[in-house]
Amino acid sequence: MRFLFSLIMRTLSQFTFLLLFLFSCTTFTSTEAYDALDPNGNITIKWDIMSWTPDGYVAVVSIYNFQQYRHIEAPGWTLGWTWAKKEVIWSMVGGQTTEQGDCSRFKGNIPHCCKKKPSVVDLLPGTPYNQQIANCCKGGVISSLVQDPSKAVSAFQLSVGAAGTTNKTVRVPKNFTLKAPGPGYTCGPAKIVRPSKFFTADKRRVTQALMTWNVTCTYSQFLAQKTPTCCVSLSSFYNDTIVPCPTCTCGCRGNSTSSGNCVDPNAPHLASVVSSSGKNGLAPLVQCTSHMCPVRIHWHVKLNYREYWRVKVTITNFNYNMNYSQWNLVVQHPNFDNLTQTFSFNYKALTPYSVISK
Ligand SMILES: *[C@@H]1O[C@H](CO)[C@@H](O)[C@H](O)[C@H]1NC(C)=O
Ligand SMILES: *[C@@H]1O[C@H](CO)[C@@H](O)[C@H](O)[C@H]1NC(C)=O
Ligand SMILES: *[C@@H]1O[C@H](CO)[C@@H](O)[C@H](O)[C@H]1NC(C)=O
Ligand SMILES: *[C@@H]1O[C@H](CO)[C@@H](O)[C@H](O)[C@H]1NC(C)=O
Ligand SMILES: *[C@@H]1O[C@H](CO)[C@@H](O)[C@H](O)[C@H]1NC(C)=O
Ligand SMILES: *[C@@H]1O[C@H](CO)[C@@H](O)[C@H](O)[C@H]1NC(C)=O
Ligand SMILES: *[C@@H]1O[C@H](CO)[C@@H](O)[C@H](O)[C@H]1NC(C)=O
Ligand SMILES: *[C@@H]1O[C@H](CO)[C@@H](O)[C@H](O)[C@H]1NC(C)=O
Repeated sequence: MRFLFSLIMRTLSQFTFLLLFLFSCTTFTSTEAYDALDPNGNITIKWDIMSWTPDGYVAVVSIYNFQQYRHIEAPGWTLGWTWAKKEVIWSMVGGQTTEQGDCSRFKGNIPHCCKKKPSVVDLLPGTPYNQQIANCCKGGVISSLVQDPSKAVSAFQLSVGAAGTTNKTVRVPKNFTLKAPGPGYTCGPAKIVRPSKFFTADKRRVTQALMTWNVTCTYSQFLAQKTPTCCVSLSSFYNDTIVPCPTCTCGCRGNSTSSGNCVDPNAPHLASVVSSSGKNGLAPLVQCTSHMCPVRIHWHVKLNYREYWRVKVTITNFNYNMNYSQWNLVVQHPNFDNLTQTFSFNYKALTPYSVISK
């Protein structure tokens, strides 16, 4: 699968090829737990207790993606936590736990989940209306702020039993984990915050949660994967030489010590290899290339005039386990301040802070 688009930028001074090396996929391979291109980006999980019940409470849990460009794609998020005491989940709307656990201590009414460390996933699109709440049931897919702020939230409701029944006795869950879908996010402790306020549809009345706590999770590329997941190759109109992705950018071929498995596109059994490994959808199954990257970005300079230059960008997916439908590409380049025209894609500027464009 390939995507093509091109862009034209006005040049300030003489265009230099060196500038191109400012952005590369390895930009994100930092050991620091934040992303220089989106330093305030985070995912905030908000628990709003909406009512107390005889043995616990009903809460709406919302997952807000406050990241500029990093979205959560299929197969979606998995949210986990550790209950502080012996809490159970009686029922859920708009989400479900992946395992019920051991509910043998209950007779009659059996809870939805009795695990000490439940893992919750979103329901799929097409869930019956009586099992939905607002912002649920998108298969765990959450947009980023730049792509579509209205879809940057996901929510589910749960009824918790064997729990505190007042704001003094309730215990906040601990050790939140967020997989989206793989590793990469680290979540802080839950903090009790001012109760959320909700406006009625006509905006004439405000109601509020009985109690609210927030958990903030941040992304680290280093935690997610030690090697880059894409690479950049370059070419230009004035030179036939294509500068390819460096060999072994994302791993070495046939080297089992560094993520070595790949599939030869000419192999006779390709279809069956791909379909049998495509089930979990997480580990990349890459086509054999010298760079071994799941994604290659090719930057071709088509024109370079004193006033402007024009490039064509080709993105190639080498990962048989992914069908990217909501992709975005983040490019850091000083001339983006003066982007004059783009073709076949939507463009938005990220302006994290000024020092990056050296
Ligand atoms: C963008 O263009 C304007 C004039 O057209 C110039 O003053 C400015 O420095 C340029 N910015 C960059 C980053 O090239
Ligand atoms: C998370 O992001 C939101 C929106 O950018 C911001 O208001 C909030 O302060 C951030 N939280 C943390 C703990 O950084
Ligand atoms: C708990 O509820 C009382 C009123 O019932 C309120 O005054 C107090 O601020 C609440 N505490 C928290 C942490 O929400
Ligand atoms: C939370 O995680 C920390 C570190 O992984 C561990 O030491 C602690 O026991 C965990 N707490 C609970 C309640 O599971
Ligand atoms: C808690 O999260 C909500 C929603 O993300 C946000 O509006 C609120 O400001 C947060 N509160 C604090 C104290 O961070
Ligand atoms: C084309 O680029 C290659 C690699 O950068 C260089 O070795 C070669 O001299 C260039 N050829 C011309 C005609 O500029
Ligand atoms: C495999 O990778 C390791 C570490 O990257 C390297 O030391 C080793 O020489 C490689 N082996 C082969 C056969 O390429
Ligand atoms: C990607 O899409 C193709 C064609 O629609 C389909 O055959 C294939 O199973 C899909 N692969 C994955 C991993 O979703």
